[in-house]
Amino acid sequence: MKEKNGFLILDFGSQVTMLIARRLRDLGYYSEIKAYNEPLDKIKEFNPDGIILSGGPNSVYDEKSPNRDVKKLLEIAPILGICYGMQLLANQLGGKVEPGESREYGLTEINWDAELHKNLKLPWPAKHKIWMSHGDVVTKPPTNAKELLRTSSHLAGFIADEVHHKYMALQYHPEVSHSEHGIEFLKYFASWCGAKPTWKSQHILHAAEAMVLKTVGPTDHVLCALSGGVDSSVVATLLTKILGAERVHCVFVNNGLLRLNEFESVMAAYKTYGLNVIGVDAEDQFLTALKDISDPEKKRKAIGELFITVFEQTLNKELKHLKDKIHFLAQGTLYPDVIESVSSLGGSVTIKSHHNVGGLPAKMKLKLVEPVRNLFKDEVRRLGEELGLTHEFISRHPFPGPGLGIRIMGDITKQKLEVLKKADQIFIQALRDEGLYHKIWQAFCVLLPVQTVGVQGDGRTYENVLALRAVTSVDGMTADWFDFDAAFLRKVSNQITNQVRGVNRIVYDVTSKPPATIEWE
Ligand code: XMP
Repeated sequence: MKEKNGFLILDFGSQVTMLIARRLRDLGYYSEIKAYNEPLDKIKEFNPDGIILSGGPNSVYDEKSPNRDVKKLLEIAPILGICYGMQLLANQLGGKVEPGESREYGLTEINWDAELHKNLKLPWPAKHKIWMSHGDVVTKPPTNAKELLRTSSHLAGFIADEVHHKYMALQYHPEVSHSEHGIEFLKYFASWCGAKPTWKSQHILHAAEAMVLKTVGPTDHVLCALSGGVDSSVVATLLTKILGAERVHCVFVNNGLLRLNEFESVMAAYKTYGLNVIGVDAEDQFLTALKDISDPEKKRKAIGELFITVFEQTLNKELKHLKDKIHFLAQGTLYPDVIESVSSLGGSVTIKSHHNVGGLPAKMKLKLVEPVRNLFKDEVRRLGEELGLTHEFISRHPFPGPGLGIRIMGDITKQKLEVLKKADQIFIQALRDEGLYHKIWQAFCVLLPVQTVGVQGDGRTYENVLALRAVTSVDGMTADWFDFDAAFLRKVSNQITNQVRGVNRIVYDVTSKPPATIEWE
């Protein structure tokens, strides 16, 4: 029998669909998100243990709502319907869906029927809080199905096909962290489908290896742009392990916008990981290109464009003899980016044009190899550890492609960079010293183009303001500011103003994302 491949989640447009995949993977079940209209033959080919129909903002009665034949899906695998997914199931399988008298939104409490709770051997308490967001409600369960739970508003909360044991459906969202025991519910569904939690580091490595070997031919060489960050380092190490260092050519550009001594220390780490890496010192080129540019988007564009130019120069010079053999460019695309482009229900507005190797493949006529495109960030970290990268290297805070360039508000000069690098070093070292570094998703300093009056020694100063930013986050999509002890902030503020010439005032950014973004530009 063909091996089952985990769970396929069909996206009907919910804001939280990605969380379903996240939770299942955390539980050890491989899962992928596809658009609600993923072709049937592709679903059969995937051979899922189970299919999940996500929530969505629409009503099943609206003709324009995303729809698909649920019976055909049931021939492939058991189904879990969540919210809109439940309504779709009910509507097509002989039940009834009607507009609710009022929307049920937010937290509410449910109370599983005592007998049902016992019969189903549910491994969580009968009474708990859940999160809902819906307008329509199932007023009659489908033929064969039984309504097994009512919400506090006396509406169907959970239905299951008691005759054929082919589907179950929930009105609430188990994937949202506010829903207590939601993860246990997903685990319950997974084992009800007979799935095995095999998605562990070893399996992640094998899947990434298989993807590389399927893409890159036996004589092809690969070019790899290193940023100093985790994703590109893991990709390069993985490719080197599979294809050998002589076929994987890495380029690490010093754009002058890295942290203090980072170029040197990261180059040293790359060498110990056995990477075949060319370090290019392009600091002056970048500073010249960025001269007098203050607009955030223009800065990002200038950095991205020059990066491509420098990269091309390296290919035409140091790697000239291999040009005929290099057919691929490696890219550290992650699963959240893939999901964004998968959604058939509209994309999102561009808030910032992220800098990565985006423009390169077309310009250089290279094909792409993206070995981590099916992985979330923490899975990439696990893969890195499996490949032998040190924990310290892997657990570093994320660092944006345009680097310190987007942490100096206004134009960028060498002198401002020096000030920022020194302050940043003090802040990060203090976090490490106090054991706070790993409690924080990302921390950094931002140099403001605002000068204020200060007094140092006996003299008057008129110097810049520096902002500290530290946030907690799971994936960078939303974030909250970190609640430091006042004593810690006092210490860092003193150290920076005492040791860094050019800064006489420190402020701490207490804004979450949204409404702010993590970076200031
Ligand atoms: P924002 O500022 O959009 O950042 O809330 C979310 C996460 O993305 C990082 N970031 C970037 N990463 N290239 C990158 O590789 C970029 O151009 C870029 N801009 C922001 C940011 O540091 C945070 O982790």
